Amino acid sequence: METYDIAVIPGDGIGTEVTSAAMEVLDTVAENHGFQLERSTYDWGTERYLDEGAMMPDDGLDRIESADSIFLGAVGHPEVPDHVTLNGLLLPIRKGFDQYICKRPNKLFEGIESPLRGYEAGDIDLVVYRENTEGEYANVGGREHRGFSNEVAVQSGLFTRKGTERIVRSAFEAATEREGHLTSITKSNAQAHSMVFWDDIVKEVSEDFPEVEVDSLLVDRASMDLVRRPEEFDVVVASNLFGDISTDIAAIITGSLGLAPSGNINEENDYPDMFEPVHGSAPDIVGQGIANPLASILTGAMMFEYLGDGKEAAAEDIWNAVEAQLADESAPRTPDLGGDAKTVDVVSDLSDRL
Ligand code: NAD
Ligand code: IPM
Ligand code: MN
Repeated sequence: METYDIAVIPGDGIGTEVTSAAMEVLDTVAENHGFQLERSTYDWGTERYLDEGAMMPDDGLDRIESADSIFLGAVGHPEVPDHVTLNGLLLPIRKGFDQYICKRPNKLFEGIESPLRGYEAGDIDLVVYRENTEGEYANVGGREHRGFSNEVAVQSGLFTRKGTERIVRSAFEAATEREGHLTSITKSNAQAHSMVFWDDIVKEVSEDFPEVEVDSLLVDRASMDLVRRPEEFDVVVASNLFGDISTDIAAIITGSLGLAPSGNINEENDYPDMFEPVHGSAPDIVGQGIANPLASILTGAMMFEYLGDGKEAAAEDIWNAVEAQLADESAPRTPDLGGDAKTVDVVSDLSDRL
């Protein structure tokens, strides 16, 4: 049988809960479509850090580089500072494997009430292309004179022509396959170097895509418009930090972080892509069995779309089953969607639909 090697990193908090839920569903769908997932599960995360002093082994990336794909739950634990855990596991994988596209689709599904008044199913349908390897996350800088009155911390951004051009081009390409509308989010009124550079590159690349209508919005205004008139967004392209912020907004206006999938992608190199939900380890609900597994399950659908020569039919089955479940008023839903169901109830209902 056609077999795909998946490196699974459940990570911390609800990351472990939603990952096992997603794996159950992915196995069912793979079987229905005549292929299988051979999983290697890695216990990398904050428990490991607390035991052994590192989130993953020194040769962590070498161990997973030959996998067909990586599936991650979430990283982050209240007992260890986030900059330690995230820079010890999640961010090095994105950067090490040069996964420059962080693709995050959001759609208002039937049966889901947006917190925005008057929006109905299908009214909001956008995808964010977030730069994922550099920008504000480059960690260029330092901190000196700790504790003294002349203490200083510098955190610079790093924007390269290659890095900016490739994410912008990918977003334009996506726009040609969707509604032909691209919104670029910057802050070029205040940030006169990186963001003006970004705007210049958007202008240059746009010449190759005359059919795409381009809007350039400042991030403050864009945040407001994502709430005021989200129907005007189709494809969004943004730097690492602005893309991060926009995708939490995009998730909540379409119902919940518990519905928002994400992929870290580079189709040009031989390294695996990594798929993970947009949400984090949610320490406020960990251990209660009430995490919404659908973000992680839809993340699995995205992984299928990028597996081998593309397992689109398998992915579509997942999207359809999730849509059908959400549209069904009698189906179980977790508290983030206003219900009182458990993670396992959602999974078992979904498995029946598959
Ligand atoms: P979070 O995404 O973990 O949680 C934000 C809110 O959304 C919480 O109220 C949480 O209960 C809720 N929520 C998130 N996912 C949910 C789900 N599947 N079902 C139901 N409710 C859900 O963000 P945070 O609280 O800012 O961060 C918590 C930790 O996660 C931090 O350590 C942070 O650094 C980390 N984090 C990791 C990732 C990642 O690994 N990809 C992403 C974001 C945050
Ligand atoms: C995300 C997360 C991460 C990010 C954090 C945990 C470093 O918020 O995947 O959206 O900012 O990329
Ligand atoms: Mn985020």
